[in-house]
Amino acid sequence: MIDENNIKVLISEEEISKKINELALKISNDYAGRDIHLICILKGSVFFSCELAKKITIPVTMDFMSVSSYGDELVSSGRVKIVKDLDESIKDKDVIIIEDIIDSGRTLAYLMELLGTRSPKSLEICTLLDKPERRVTDVKVKYVGFEIPDEFVVGYGLDYKQKYRNLAYIGVV
Ligand code: IMP
Ligand code: MG
Repeated sequence: MIDENNIKVLISEEEISKKINELALKISNDYAGRDIHLICILKGSVFFSCELAKKITIPVTMDFMSVSSYGDELVSSGRVKIVKDLDESIKDKDVIIIEDIIDSGRTLAYLMELLGTRSPKSLEICTLLDKPERRVTDVKVKYVGFEIPDEFVVGYGLDYKQKYRNLAYIGVV
């Protein structure tokens, strides 16, 4: 299916919604009896974090962090800069980092190492999309929405030059 922007639909709005319900149920069960602190990585994971948080049935707190990898738009360079740090301490909290996509894994490897030094009770990763073929680091991801092939995708938070974030589905340009 090709839409009006010439974007091929890879994962539909309905499929995303179903997957988010599944992930939220899994997280609610895994952390039953505890509170969960979600860290939304701006800007890409805003849509995913909000929808996921709404479906989780245990107490949720949220914080936001903005990182940028140097380099061009299509390939992550592996050098990560913190543009906006967390507002609150994560000490003794059960933390889940929420990402839109894991590509090389460099961003998350860096974040896991950095946040790991701040004494969270636990620290895990939840990503909507995973491109396993592209991985160059060994980063442990507890929750994955969809594994996708090595194609550049947009929508549902993901951008190409800051555009297409607002598409309700995931597509290939
Ligand atoms: P990593 O450090 O290589 O894992 O890069 C992860 C980041 O690269 C993501 O958070 C996205 O911002 C960006 N990225 C990687 N692949 C894509 C894609 O297919 N579409 C849009 N952004 C992407
Ligand atoms: Mg991102």
